[in-house]
Order: sequence, then structure tokens, then C-alpha cells
Amino acid sequence: MNENRASYLAKLFGGPSDYKGKSLKEAHQSSDIKDGHFELFIKYFNESLQELNVDKKVIEEAAQTLRSTKNEVLNR
Ligand code: HEM
Repeated sequence: MNENRASYLAKLFGGPSDYKGKSLKEAHQSSDIKDGHFELFIKYFNESLQELNVDKKVIEEAAQTLRSTKNEVLNR
């Protein structure tokens, strides 16, 4: 995870952040990311938080927040 991405996520989750990177659409439009890639990203995110013993409800809420970016990341 690079600095821009961490800073973007801080902002997305409502924390303090001065993210000055590209829009999500711009950042991903050359990558041809498909639905399956996005779902795997969410799956690994969930598994990582589970390993850290994060509360299940918190994980679900965080995954929902990530999902809200799906159309932008998939460039549609
Ligand atoms: C919730 C979903 C996602 C979020 C919030 C997110 C966030 C970001 C952000 C903020 C950047 C810009 C970094 C910069 O400006 O330097 C970025 C870049 C990038 N993302 Fe994502 N991303 C998501 C999903 C994905 C997925 C599913 C893939 C591929 C499977 C992906 C691949 C990439 C690549 C290749 C870059 C450009 C290279 C880099 O800057 O490291 N992203 N992402």
C-alpha cells in the first residue's frame, strides 16, 4: 500500500486525510479491472481484518464503504 492509497482510505473511512492523488477513476482506468478482481480485493481485505481479530460488524461496514467505490474503480 503506497502513501497515496493509505491517505485515500483514511479519507474514505472518515478520518483525517489530505489526499491529493488522482480520482479513483483516473488511478484505475488504464488497469482494465474486472468485477472478479474487485471482489477478490474485498475478500482479501476481509480476511486480513479477520486475522487481526477485528469485530465482524466493523469488517462488514468497512467492506460496504469500499464497495461504494466500485463503479469508479471499474471505470463505469
Ligand atoms: C475499494 C477499492 C479500491 C480503492 C479504494 C483503491 C484505491 C487506490 C488509490 C487511491 C490509488 C491511487 C494511488 C496514487 O495516486 O498513487 C490506486 C491505484 C491503483 N490501484 Fe487501486 N483501489 C481499489 C481497488 C483496486 C483493485 C481491485 C485493483 C486491481 C485488482 C487496483 C489496482 C490499482 C493499481 C494497479 C493502481 C495504480 C498503481 C499504484 O498507484 O500503485 N485497485 N488505488
